[in-house]
Amino acid sequence: MRTDATDSIDRGDLEALLVDIWKQLLSIEENTIDTDFFASGGHSLAAMLLIARIESSTGISLPLAALVRHSTPRALAAYCLARSETPHIETSLDGTETQAEYLIAYNEPERQTRRSEAYEVYYATAATSAAHAAFCDLVYGANFGQHGMADVAQLDFLIAKMEIGAEDLVLDIGCGYGQIAEYIHDRTGARIVGIDISSSAVARGNERALSSGKPLRFIQMDLQSLSLPEMKFSKTISIDTIYFTNDLQKTLSSIRQHGTETMRLGVFRTFPLRSFTDETWSPHISELGHNLRKLFGGYEAYDFSKEENAHWRKKVEILESLRSESIKEGNENLFQFRYAEARYEAKIEQRRYLFVTD
Ligand SMILES: C[S@@+](CC[C@H](N)C(=O)[O-])C[C@H]1O[C@@H](n2cnc3c(N)ncnc32)[C@H](O)[C@@H]1O
Repeated sequence: MRTDATDSIDRGDLEALLVDIWKQLLSIEENTIDTDFFASGGHSLAAMLLIARIESSTGISLPLAALVRHSTPRALAAYCLARSETPHIETSLDGTETQAEYLIAYNEPERQTRRSEAYEVYYATAATSAAHAAFCDLVYGANFGQHGMADVAQLDFLIAKMEIGAEDLVLDIGCGYGQIAEYIHDRTGARIVGIDISSSAVARGNERALSSGKPLRFIQMDLQSLSLPEMKFSKTISIDTIYFTNDLQKTLSSIRQHGTETMRLGVFRTFPLRSFTDETWSPHISELGHNLRKLFGGYEAYDFSKEENAHWRKKVEILESLRSESIKEGNENLFQFRYAEARYEAKIEQRRYLFVTD
């Protein structure tokens, strides 16, 4: 079993990733593997962000001093590969790669395609499974065919903090079947448009909306290429979907452009703590926090970490109690899909926040 995050990372991949992170933090045109971070305008806050981004994209935890001594992508990559410390790294979901490799490749096109296919199968199956409905009821407090981590209490919190009301036009990014959107509409009277990569989820959402006559509309779309030119949203929500972009800053800018001038964005997002500690970790050093400040002026982050860690343990427990019912139904694959994920996540210490922009 591998124990070192750097053990199996290819030097070229690591250098390319570091050049990319350099690019995100330094506002200079030319960035190469020999661009010196400090000589090119990197200051101490940017240095902390850089360390945080390296950790969140690779699982490699570095002391600030390492950057001071190895301040180019080439030198820092060499340092990472040579050093002997062994950060705590979990293997990926299928156990065939380290979590660092898994995260580096998380949004590569091939993996995105496989993920979309998996969601397609998930949404096509989950809707007809009584065991899955029971699972959602027990975990989330209502069955909306959820695949995120927000239960009804978190949805109610989101509605209250974002002050969603009947006057709002809301964009729900990664809406699944649209039943979370329907719940929000029922509670607030807001009109809601949802987008999701899964065509079967979206089709189901539109069928429900058509038969209920509620002002809900669902569109199949990749969140990385939002295109709803005729609409201006007053509120936008992303419940466990902001992970799925290759370029967070670009995606958030596009979300911003789809909003009214005073649009507010609410994002639920979980971060594995990995080698951060509560002393060194804060949502404000995350790439998401950094971009929300830059693009939306500011935000409040509400801590749901305790709930998150309990959530995954609860999922494991409830899935185990529903195993035989799922198998009897012929839905063993669906069961395994959720069970493998829940067991993996339950082993990782998580931090979760609702970010709400000003
Ligand atoms: C973790 S689930 C969350 C779903 C829902 N918001 C919830 O809380 O249950 C992620 C959702 O994002 C969708 N998704 C994944 N990649 C996407 C992409 N690139 N663009 C749009 N939706 C995507 C999936 O189909 C899935 O519905």
